[in-house]
Amino acid sequence: MNNSQLEIIICGGEKDARARLASQVEAISKNHHIINVGGGLNRLHNMTTAAQSADLVIIAGGANNGFSTQSRQLLLIASVMGVQNFVLDIDETHAEEAENKFDEYLTNLRADHTRQLKGIVISRDAHKLADFILEITAGSADNQKDFRMPVTSLSDLGHIRGKVCSGKICTGDSVIVLPSATRTKISEIFSDAKSVQQIDKGRSAEFLLADNISVVPGDMLCSGDNPVEVADQFETSIVWLSPDPMIAGRPYILNSTTNTLDASITTIKHSINVNSHEHIAATRLEAGEIGVCNISLERNIPFEPIDAGRHTSQFTLYSKDDNKIVGLGSIHFALRRASNVHWQALDVTRQKRAELKGQKPAILWFTGLSGSGKSAIANVVEKKLTALGKHTYTLDGDNIRHGLNRDLGFTDADRVENIRRIAEVSRLMADSGIITLVSFISPFQSERQLARELAEVGEFIEIHVDTPLEVAEARDVKGLYKKARAGEIKNFTGIDSPYEPPLNPEIRVNTVDISAENAAENIIIKLRARGII
Ligand code: ADX
Repeated sequence: MNNSQLEIIICGGEKDARARLASQVEAISKNHHIINVGGGLNRLHNMTTAAQSADLVIIAGGANNGFSTQSRQLLLIASVMGVQNFVLDIDETHAEEAENKFDEYLTNLRADHTRQLKGIVISRDAHKLADFILEITAGSADNQKDFRMPVTSLSDLGHIRGKVCSGKICTGDSVIVLPSATRTKISEIFSDAKSVQQIDKGRSAEFLLADNISVVPGDMLCSGDNPVEVADQFETSIVWLSPDPMIAGRPYILNSTTNTLDASITTIKHSINVNSHEHIAATRLEAGEIGVCNISLERNIPFEPIDAGRHTSQFTLYSKDDNKIVGLGSIHFALRRASNVHWQALDVTRQKRAELKGQKPAILWFTGLSGSGKSAIANVVEKKLTALGKHTYTLDGDNIRHGLNRDLGFTDADRVENIRRIAEVSRLMADSGIITLVSFISPFQSERQLARELAEVGEFIEIHVDTPLEVAEARDVKGLYKKARAGEIKNFTGIDSPYEPPLNPEIRVNTVDISAENAAENIIIKLRARGII
């Protein structure tokens, strides 16, 4: 994109108001790219996505409602995604009151950012809009940013391919490759199969480096004198879009400019009240909410804080279950904790520990409704394994909730954290060479998947104790279903809290027709067949 062309979002208000604003912008210059974000179901999704690259957001204030909640939400989302310039178009009668509130809101937003945020209120005034757009266009011309290019692929000849997302680069310039932090020089640039001297922002190119260093897709080439940073833990702002709430501890997939990798929200620090911009304590984020969250990634990525470079700061979060977009966000800064804590290599390895015990470690993960028979069956399986001379340990939900997890209840968020901790503990147990039996309802697919991914390949055996709700409820060994039906226990699995059955468990146990003894015997047979014992 050249400097005189802006990406302009027109959003909020009625269709007619947006159309009027669009024609005003077109009358100023035909060059600008207008994105009209209307109402409807995908409103927030469309707004957040468009705001990733917009230079200006024009909000059409609805008739007679001043600086509305919806306008504030659009403004907040745009600021999270790195937009710098805002216009609120408001009906004359409300202009003064709206202007004060708009200014106050922008002042609050400015407190969260080091980049300059500019905003004006216009009352249908095309001249005021034209002046503002001219000012932004002039400003963007001298905005010469540092060179950044995410590597997308390598050609057959080993040329590095990518699209310049910021700044420009010339042959002979020194560059740094991240995250490896290797320095080299650009020896040749090819664009449209021709050798060129220079390549600018927005253009795709192939590069040849002066030194033969390893570069892989996901790396980033940066100018040598001002490279981006590298980290694996961040404070971020996230616009949550999924109808399923965001829950701390749950695994998601994060897609940055350069990489796709596993991510987990470690802490939801607070959500932001759209109206007052106040920080509110939160344990989850619902659709349309905006929150400040710490996230942790499986490895380092190159990045910039949002106020330094938006393209290298923005990310998209996807659900692990169905790969749907659940949120978009931007990085505030890196949390340096991880860089000062190094993995300690130990001389006694997991192989040695397992050999000494004469067994292969395994995690036998029993999942099913309360009263399904998980613990009874796990108990018999453990006895049988011990009789075979195996070293075992059982982690049981009811027991662990008296100690390690006694701070946790039964909300979705607490269950996610419950299982996350147990997934980590069973990984440690497997590392120590033990066959661990885990007996937790573990109602959610994504946390069972997390436990599976933490385990070594082939060591995680998911056992679905597939007792129908009617049967478990009829047994009601602990009398809990009765209480749940009477409303005395809230969030009871199967009653008013969901259970997501495993789709492909290694072992499925039907407890309706067989005893715990027989179910356990069948499990032992299947473990033998899989070479676990
Ligand atoms: S999990 O869902 O987080 O995996 P976990 O297995 O640790 O649950 O604990 C389940 C046990 O807690 C049940 O067997 C039952 O005895 C008890 N319990 C108490 N309240 C609830 C509840 N609301 N839902 C399910 N189980 C509950």
